Amino acid sequence: MKFTVAIDGPAASGKGTISRRISEYFGFSYLDTGLIYRFIGLKVLSGFDPLEAIAQLNYDEIEVEGLRTEAVSKMASQIASDIKVRNALVEYQREFSRRCGGAVLDGRDIGTVICPNAEIKLYITASEEIRANRRFQELAEKDKGLKIESLIVELRARDLADKERKVSPLLKAEDAVLLDTTELSIDASVALAVNAISKVIRLST
Ligand code: DC
Repeated sequence: MKFTVAIDGPAASGKGTISRRISEYFGFSYLDTGLIYRFIGLKVLSGFDPLEAIAQLNYDEIEVEGLRTEAVSKMASQIASDIKVRNALVEYQREFSRRCGGAVLDGRDIGTVICPNAEIKLYITASEEIRANRRFQELAEKDKGLKIESLIVELRARDLADKERKVSPLLKAEDAVLLDTTELSIDASVALAVNAISKVIRLST
């Protein structure tokens, strides 16, 4: 079976956790496309040319450790506005989306550019305050000096850059289901997403 779930949304909206949970629930493969941009961002920070970094990319071997820092987030967002970088990643993502057994991809342009014909698209969002709080809970354990104020500034700047860039900006696809998780627990958000996807699966079988 080929079935693509396209998930987009701003930083720290919960889309990563929800995507992973959905992929486990349905037994679909999962591609965190933000991780790819983060990998390239980290490489660029250590002196590589972004296209050289893409040539070295092996998704299954990406080490998540060190990729969630503010510096990497910022550089990932910066290199993501380069059309040459985006173009070099399109085919890999599309091929992944057509995997037999179903695929979940999350990012910023999945429903709009990478998989415009996905069987279902979700746009996951939450208020800025909630997103900054969630990111804080996630990072504060390891970074004792972390300030929520600096996280809010970073999230706001990154959202703006991702939404306003010329190439493949973050945008809700017209046919995407909007999931606002501001007042929802992760379990409740996952349940809503699972319901929406199950409905489409039922209709298509
Ligand atoms: O989802 P994330 O926060 O890990 O993504 C990091 C950055 O990568 C994000 O700020 C913008 C970029 N990105 C993108 O432009 N397109 C994608 N499909 C995924 C991520």
